Order: sequence, then C-alpha cells, then structure tokens
Amino acid sequence: MPETGTLHDAFIDELRDTYDAEKQLTKALPKLAKAATSPKLRAAFETHLQETLGQIARLERVFESLDEKVRGKHCDGIAGIIEEGKSIMEEDFDESTMDACLIAAGQRAEHYEMAAYGTLVAWAQATGHTEAAKLLQQTLDEEKAADKKLSGLAEGGINQGAADAAYADADEDEPVVVAASSARKTGSRAGRR
Ligand SMILES: [Fe+2]
Repeated sequence: MPETGTLHDAFIDELRDTYDAEKQLTKALPKLAKAATSPKLRAAFETHLQETLGQIARLERVFESLDEKVRGKHCDGIAGIIEEGKSIMEEDFDESTMDACLIAAGQRAEHYEMAAYGTLVAWAQATGHTEAAKLLQQTLDEEKAADKKLSGLAEGGINQGAADAAYADADEDEPVVVAASSARKTGSRAGRR
C-alpha cells in the first residue's frame, strides 16, 4: 500500500514547484525588461530579476534547513502566466499600452508567487520549521514590494499615458454626455463610446 502523504510532503512539493517557478521567471523577466519602453519599468523588471536570483538562493537554503535535496518540479501555473505574457509581447500595441500590458503580465506573476509564498510561510509555521518560515517570509515581503512598485508605475503615469494615446484622435467637439459631478468617475467609459 502506498504511504499516505502528509502536510510535510505537500510542503516539500510546493517548495519544488515554487523553485521551478522562480527559475522560469529568471528567463521571462529579461524579456519583459527588453519589451518595456519606460526606463523606470525596465529598471523595475531588472531589479526584480536580481531579487529573483536571490530568492532562488534563499529557497536552496530552505531545502537545506529541511535536509531536503534541492530540486524543482515543473510549475504549470507560472508557465501559463509566462505564456500569456509572451502573447502580449507579440501584440502590436503603442509603447505606453505595451508598458501597461507588461505591468499587468508582471503583476499576474507576482500575485501567483505571493499566493505560493503565503501558503509556504503558513505551512512552515504550522509544521514548526521556524528557519524556513523566516526565509520564506523574506521572499514574500519582496514579492509584495515588487507588486506594489508595479502598481505605483502603472498608476503613476503609465496607464494614463496609454489612455491618452487611446483617445488622442478623439473628436474634441464630441458632446460630453455625463453630468459634471460624475464625469471624473465615468469619464473613461463615456469616452470610449
Ligand atoms: Fe519570485
């Protein structure tokens, strides 16, 4: 009869999955950086590539702390997210729209990782692996910061730049159909009509 898996086994499995996800991201991040037009966005992807290399080394320390062999297991989830990112890069978008889309792709990856590390930290704590929990929490914090940075870039001008490019040739004489008080809230939707 096969042995019944425990939370410890699931934890190791999830670590291997995440290790592989990070490795896949080291190949995807340079492509995102290369496709970015905004120097700040490019720098953000390049910085996160360096962080990702550190996160891989940190995961290796986690394996060691658990007396487990360092091993990855193909992560289908991040592969799908990376695949979607590649499709976006093949689109013929204007520069700022492409930047906005690259941020969207990057944030999907970050949120996937935040979910993985959130689980890993909780499981490490539940199973009493204090050292592993501490290391994994450091990475979780880095992923959250990277996500926040991307939000800051999107909301700090890139989305607006893309929106301005979208409506650059809109007829300025077009009557405004929304009431002044709600114009700010619904303006973008009205403008698309
Ligand atoms: Fe990561």
